[in-house]
Amino acid sequence: MSKLFEPLRIGNFTLSNRITVAPMCQYSAVDGSMTDWHIMHLGSMATSGASMLVIEAAGVVPEGRITPQCVGLYSDANEEALTRVTKFVRGVSPIVLGIQLAHAGRKASSHRPWNGRGPLKPNEGAWQCEAPSAIALDNDWPVPHAMTRADMDRAKAAWVFAAKRAARAGMDFVEVHSTHGYLFSEFLSPLSNQRTDDYGGSLQNRMRWPLEVFRAMREVFPADKFMGAKISGSDFYDGGWTPDDAVVYAGELKKAGAAYVTVSGGGVRLDAKVPIGPGYQVPFAERVKRETGICAGAVGLITDPQQAEDILVKGQADFISLARVLLFNPRWPQHAAVTLGADAFYPPQYERGGPKLWAPGKTFGKWAA
Ligand SMILES: Cc1cc2nc3c(=O)[nH]c(=O)nc-3n(C[C@H](O)[C@H](O)[C@H](O)COP(=O)(O)O)c2cc1C
Repeated sequence: MSKLFEPLRIGNFTLSNRITVAPMCQYSAVDGSMTDWHIMHLGSMATSGASMLVIEAAGVVPEGRITPQCVGLYSDANEEALTRVTKFVRGVSPIVLGIQLAHAGRKASSHRPWNGRGPLKPNEGAWQCEAPSAIALDNDWPVPHAMTRADMDRAKAAWVFAAKRAARAGMDFVEVHSTHGYLFSEFLSPLSNQRTDDYGGSLQNRMRWPLEVFRAMREVFPADKFMGAKISGSDFYDGGWTPDDAVVYAGELKKAGAAYVTVSGGGVRLDAKVPIGPGYQVPFAERVKRETGICAGAVGLITDPQQAEDILVKGQADFISLARVLLFNPRWPQHAAVTLGADAFYPPQYERGGPKLWAPGKTFGKWAA
């Protein structure tokens, strides 16, 4: 029996296997509202055979979007567009469906990747970014506004309201984006947070606001649905966030009601040396899982079914989160099931694509044509 295809209980939900679709920005929204591209993309991911799908980072305020083309969940129109996507996905797949809520902090107001990623210029519609401290991401980037407590309260209210919208739009769960150098991650990392108030300095202080927001969201998000977070295992930078910090933060998130964390990393400094290679972030998930007992997802260059199986068999993670390999091959989970001798979901329209039904007579008896 393959471990990758064993069910997993998260909150009140049972995932049919341990393959989850990582959130992936598509930079294809209009005023924060998802479009037909999202129907195509998420429809494809939902019929992949994976058991859980995290919709891309959605800005809780317009200024919290990475690019002007990023998804948001701050307006009625955004909520309607998400509801349309939910209805579509539910019609094609039993996948457990949620959305990543996000605020890009000092990395907002950027170009999308295929337009160069850099900061927007004033004549390109740039907006003022905010962050825990007035420290620019890099030399060519604008200095963000250092958030006051009033700014933090305003942002917190937006996170909470977005969680309500996500529930109304039919999400099974929300994931709080707490890595990759965006706003929560900026509060957590000593490289981007140099505040001298109760929200800077010690680890306890740097975690204070993200945890406060998480708790406030958990209070309004329906108890029968679950919440999780994507966190950093490391900033991959001297003097930055460490795996030890990740263990403490994951433990606090668990106490605050997080049902899972996915452990990623990087993004706070553009000049960080990230040791990219197969499963390069798995050891972070392993420590978080072992030392806190929270349900932990591993992410980062997990591309091969046996590699994914081994991570789970060794107890390094509870589930696998896949991004790029699913863009490359959206049938990866179904192919992995064949490799590992297990079964995966196919929509009925695609059932005959499964190799088990390729032999003559296997499909509809004498109608097997
Ligand atoms: C096109 C693309 C968009 C992404 N958007 C997000 C996102 O919205 N939120 C997030 O947490 N990570 C995002 N990521 C990072 C992935 O979720 C994942 O953590 C990373 O790509 C490493 O996993 P992989 O090696 O399987 O791709 C994105 C990655 C890609 C390739």
